[in-house]
Amino acid sequence: MCTKMSVKISTCILLVALFLGLHPITTSSRCLDSQKSSLWSLKNDLIFDSEPSFKLMTWNLSMDCCDWWGVTCDEAGHLTELSLNDDGIRGGITSSHLKSFKSLKLLNLNYNSLSSFPESLLTLPSLQELYLLHNNLSGPISKHIRVASYNLSIIDLSDNKLQGPLPEFIFKLPSISALRLSRNNFTGIVHLDAFGKFKNLYELDLSYNNLTVIPNTKESSSFSSLTKLDTLRLASCKMLKIPNLKNHASLRTLDLSDNRFKGAIPNWIWNVGNGSLGFLSLSQNKFSSLEKPYTFPSSYRVLDLSSNKLKGDIPVPPSECYIINFSNNKFGSSIPADFGNALTITVSFTISNSKVTGVIPSSINKASDLRFLDLSRNSLAGPIPLDGSLGSLELLDLSNNKLSGKIPEQLTSIMGLEFLNVSYNRLSGKIPQGGARFPTFTSLSFVGNKGLCGPPLSKTCGTGNKKM
Ligand SMILES: *[C@@H]1O[C@H](CO)[C@@H](O)[C@H](O)[C@H]1NC(C)=O
Ligand SMILES: *[C@@H]1O[C@H](CO)[C@@H](O)[C@H](O)[C@H]1NC(C)=O
Ligand SMILES: *[C@@H]1O[C@H](CO)[C@@H](O)[C@H](O)[C@H]1NC(C)=O
Ligand SMILES: *[C@@H]1O[C@H](CO)[C@@H](O)[C@H](O)[C@H]1NC(C)=O
Ligand SMILES: *[C@@H]1O[C@H](CO)[C@@H](O)[C@H](O)[C@H]1NC(C)=O
Ligand SMILES: *[C@@H]1O[C@H](CO)[C@@H](O)[C@H](O)[C@H]1NC(C)=O
Ligand SMILES: *[C@@H]1O[C@H](CO)[C@@H](O)[C@H](O)[C@H]1NC(C)=O
Ligand SMILES: *[C@@H]1O[C@H](CO)[C@@H](O)[C@H](O)[C@H]1NC(C)=O
Repeated sequence: MCTKMSVKISTCILLVALFLGLHPITTSSRCLDSQKSSLWSLKNDLIFDSEPSFKLMTWNLSMDCCDWWGVTCDEAGHLTELSLNDDGIRGGITSSHLKSFKSLKLLNLNYNSLSSFPESLLTLPSLQELYLLHNNLSGPISKHIRVASYNLSIIDLSDNKLQGPLPEFIFKLPSISALRLSRNNFTGIVHLDAFGKFKNLYELDLSYNNLTVIPNTKESSSFSSLTKLDTLRLASCKMLKIPNLKNHASLRTLDLSDNRFKGAIPNWIWNVGNGSLGFLSLSQNKFSSLEKPYTFPSSYRVLDLSSNKLKGDIPVPPSECYIINFSNNKFGSSIPADFGNALTITVSFTISNSKVTGVIPSSINKASDLRFLDLSRNSLAGPIPLDGSLGSLELLDLSNNKLSGKIPEQLTSIMGLEFLNVSYNRLSGKIPQGGARFPTFTSLSFVGNKGLCGPPLSKTCGTGNKKM
């Protein structure tokens, strides 16, 4: 069958390759005996729950250890990667058998319940990536750790309960390129310039600790020299001043939320990243205005200015932004008439509780990709101008405004509308009854409108057309 036609030759080769691939390789062992016995001893030293453990439980001495789940070897049979993430491991790692993993480059222990920082891992000479995200690590990390992993470049300790000052060993590692320390309980004062020594740094996350971060203020500072920086997350870092980020021309993600900034948002910040910034959060600060003149670059995909004290003109968002959050401000002004033109690909727009006045501009109907629209808790007046063009809407919250007129019938044609709230307005007339969704809304979607009638409200509509 394999000789019949030349066009079939490639199929034959494929079949032969598949056959070879499935059979002989598993019989000759690639794994070095030293690596196998050390891995097996490591397994015996680890405390893990057999129930959530998918990987360690399947390790089997009669198999090539390079084929064990979570294990990767190089050609010569040395262990290069060990991924025991999400495998129910508890306690510490004190095994003396780590010593033989001289080629181990990547160790992934994310989503376990390790309780103390496994210091011995820092003696692995080839280690480049260490992942300990979401464990149960607590207490301060010793100042006197022996470090031999000088090529360590990615460290993720996020989402643990580590305390004390930022670990000193980190600053002995010149190759750090990504450092994620968020959501711990690190304390103390840290200067951003301390990270300036990591010439390859592309990601830094210090968010949600108990740190006081002192920003660099000069363009000549060492932090400013980190031109490869792609992601900077400094949420909840008690900063009083915005770091000087004018030199960081590659920044794509910038989170400066929940700090202590106030006054005008300086207009240079919009150009941080030199046209590459996609995510910007300045939420939960005390900014009161936007320094003029300003323009948003078209690169933004997420823009969060929520929970500030912004007053005055509502900024017209950049035109290709998916998520826009302007909630919890004090604008005291109306939504510009052409605002909807900027929302043509926006998925979520929120400007709740922000002292917005005037009417909802009918340009909102151009926002045909919107799934979440929240204009609640403002002073919006006039009619609901929605004409059914917002066919993707899942959530529409217009509650607590001064909207009047009827609820547009066209809203009943929005098939995916899961949540509607027009409560506490001045709407009147009969609640539309058609479509798939409207019959599922309860009176809680409509209460607080004196003029509304018909199900699901108990008030019936005018005596003439009442059906008994
Ligand atoms: C280990 O693998 C061998 C050969 O594939 C198999 O016979 C044996 O049942 C396995 N042992 C365990 C504990 O899974
Ligand atoms: C560290 O990295 C350098 C450059 O990539 C390499 O030459 C060196 O062998 C590495 N050292 C270890 C111990 O892996
Ligand atoms: C996490 O550590 C605390 C002590 O800090 C301990 O009480 C708790 O049982 C640990 N949780 C798990 C899942 O191991
Ligand atoms: C953080 O550490 C302080 C003491 O340094 C302690 O009082 C506090 O409960 C810790 N917070 C968390 C969330 O672990
Ligand atoms: C933050 O750290 C200070 C000491 O620097 C401590 O007094 C305070 O309890 C900590 N706060 C939290 C929430 O852990
Ligand atoms: C910023 O972008 C412009 C145009 O893309 C480019 O010419 C310039 O070199 C960039 N500046 C930096 C500092 O990378
Ligand atoms: C908008 O920001 C507010 C306050 O910061 C937050 O509570 C809310 O969840 C955000 N909404 C969306 C849709 O992201
Ligand atoms: C609509 O908003 C009002 C006022 O905030 C609230 O009482 C009501 O429960 C909300 N309705 C729904 C369906 O959540």
